Amino acid sequence: MNKAIVISAMAAVSSLAVAQTSVIDVNVANAQKGAKIQSTMYGLFFEDINYAADGGLYAEMVKNRSFEFPQALMGWKTYGNVEVRTDGAPFERNPHYVRLSSSGHAHKHTGIENEGFFGVSTVKGNEYKFSVWARALNADAKIRVELDDPASMGETQVTGQAEIIVSGKEWKKYTATIKSDSDVKKGLLRVFLVGDNGVDLEHVSLFPAETFKGRENGLRADLAQALCDIHPGVFRFPGGCIVEGTDLNSRYQWKNSVGAVENRPLNENRWHYTFPHRFYPDYYQSYGLGFYEFFLLSEDMGAEPLPVVSCGLACQFQNETEEAHVPVEDLQPYIQDALDLIEFANGDKSTKWGALRAEMGHPEPFNLKLIGVGNEQWGETFPKHLEPFVKAIRAAYPNIRIVGTSGPDSEGAQFDYLWPEMKRLGADLVDEHFYRPETWFLSQGNRYDKYDRKGPKVFAGEYACHGKGKKWNHFEASLLEAAFMTGLERNADVVHMATYAPLFAHVEGWQWRPDMIWYDNTRSFKSVSYYVQQLYAMNKGTNVLPATMNGKPVAGNLDQDGLFASAVYDAADGSYIVKVVNTASHDKDVDINLKGLKKKAISKCTLTLLHSDNGDADNTLDEPQKITPKTLDRPAAGNVIKTTVPAQSFHVYRIQVK
Ligand code: AHR
Repeated sequence: MNKAIVISAMAAVSSLAVAQTSVIDVNVANAQKGAKIQSTMYGLFFEDINYAADGGLYAEMVKNRSFEFPQALMGWKTYGNVEVRTDGAPFERNPHYVRLSSSGHAHKHTGIENEGFFGVSTVKGNEYKFSVWARALNADAKIRVELDDPASMGETQVTGQAEIIVSGKEWKKYTATIKSDSDVKKGLLRVFLVGDNGVDLEHVSLFPAETFKGRENGLRADLAQALCDIHPGVFRFPGGCIVEGTDLNSRYQWKNSVGAVENRPLNENRWHYTFPHRFYPDYYQSYGLGFYEFFLLSEDMGAEPLPVVSCGLACQFQNETEEAHVPVEDLQPYIQDALDLIEFANGDKSTKWGALRAEMGHPEPFNLKLIGVGNEQWGETFPKHLEPFVKAIRAAYPNIRIVGTSGPDSEGAQFDYLWPEMKRLGADLVDEHFYRPETWFLSQGNRYDKYDRKGPKVFAGEYACHGKGKKWNHFEASLLEAAFMTGLERNADVVHMATYAPLFAHVEGWQWRPDMIWYDNTRSFKSVSYYVQQLYAMNKGTNVLPATMNGKPVAGNLDQDGLFASAVYDAADGSYIVKVVNTASHDKDVDINLKGLKKKAISKCTLTLLHSDNGDADNTLDEPQKITPKTLDRPAAGNVIKTTVPAQSFHVYRIQVK
């Protein structure tokens, strides 16, 4: 045979192969007996990175409201006669405040102005709640609070204002509601002293009147609602690397994040300086969004809270010497923090920390079941640090499940060392992290098929496809996450939780991408990765069903030409759910064959699909709905769903039976 004939024969065979229908067999007999899918299976991971808390989910609009940044007036401009003081401050853990005294002339002004987080942004017609702690120096004093648009070309910069009389020499909280008469992106908050009677000001705060569930000290309504809409089963907080700190001083200390919001001390945010090429010198943690608020949000979302505490190891990427960490024999205060946290969440009102929770407004326990100890730790030192935590938590709270870690790598020497160590110590779950490229996601469809069924369960605690040379949100990366997740689902007997990361990013303040939800001060959009997570969480079902192609799991790389699939039964409504991801660059005809049903049992099948012709595209602030899931009916032929899964598509079939 000559060469040309061989090539054309090969082409014919390969085009035949492409045109072939792929048959996915889903065995639905004994559906209720399939491995149980945990309610925690798909969840959310929150870390204050990319201005996720202050400047993001936490709705406070004033930056450095307590004048506690190392440069006390960072974020502020002052004019006239303003002094930063610390004597006689009302909140001992936030000792700085400002004194506004007479400018000395009727036509001059004393005051302060705050630049907010990337501007104080207001929406026309919306109301804003201003509050301040203040005391008069002598006689009653007056302050005027303004929302301003410094770029206004109108007659005035003032877009809303209120006046407050401060009376008495005792510190008191004063409030005012201000309506904005304009849309302003890069606005300011100004506080003027009116007249000559001086005043001291502390904890200067401005919130939108409309926060999530109308709470004081609340969350941005659009962002919190986006989280609820995922229907997450677990909520991990407060990080990530910020749990560990760049040094132990800057680790997240949950006790500093509870109690009166005015008295929560400031902490550094390591993401301010971790990447010098994305430097944000004004990025700190006010702890206004603290552990109480995290627990409350978990409850609002119907998600199991999963707080993570420091294990006494500062970030190991940034600290190579032993001196940076707490010696194992000195861990007791850290262990006590973990035990006290469980008491804060679950203790009754007669306990010290349970009483604080009740005083903060939640007398009922939060019913905490999980705790993470350490973030991305590694080496022999980690098991040594973890062990005393495990012993102490087991002794005091035998029902609490403990989450350890396999370190920052998705595989390799450290990973292989830590898994058996976690098993030896009796960790209930192991937190695995993978920010990996396309090739990795394509090759990991059957990652969990061979995992030890007798060891700890898996928590895929941080993952996202970081496209090679394309480390930003785009459709193809999200599609590969969807493909990879079929393997999590097929192995739900061993994988109990999974959370994409990071969650949030401010378009003007990000350090890390891709991220799930993006925003500026007034708008937000959900990435395609968000919709992937949502489709899984809303279709997680209750029991795994075997889904095979030619007898093999549909994991993309077992001669399946990039096709991935998983199937579950949902006891809530008796439906079968099949997820199919076509990562190939050509369409695929697929028969989904439900085996074990009575003849013509299918009564309805809906298909929800996610697709973009442009693998590089994603949603944006200006086009938030560019790529969203669409739902349509799909007829069944007997007990077979005959379908075409277009190239680069994620399909979710929900099949109802008579
Ligand atoms: O998600 C961003 C960072 O990635 C987390 O803080 C850390 O755990 C991981 O290295």
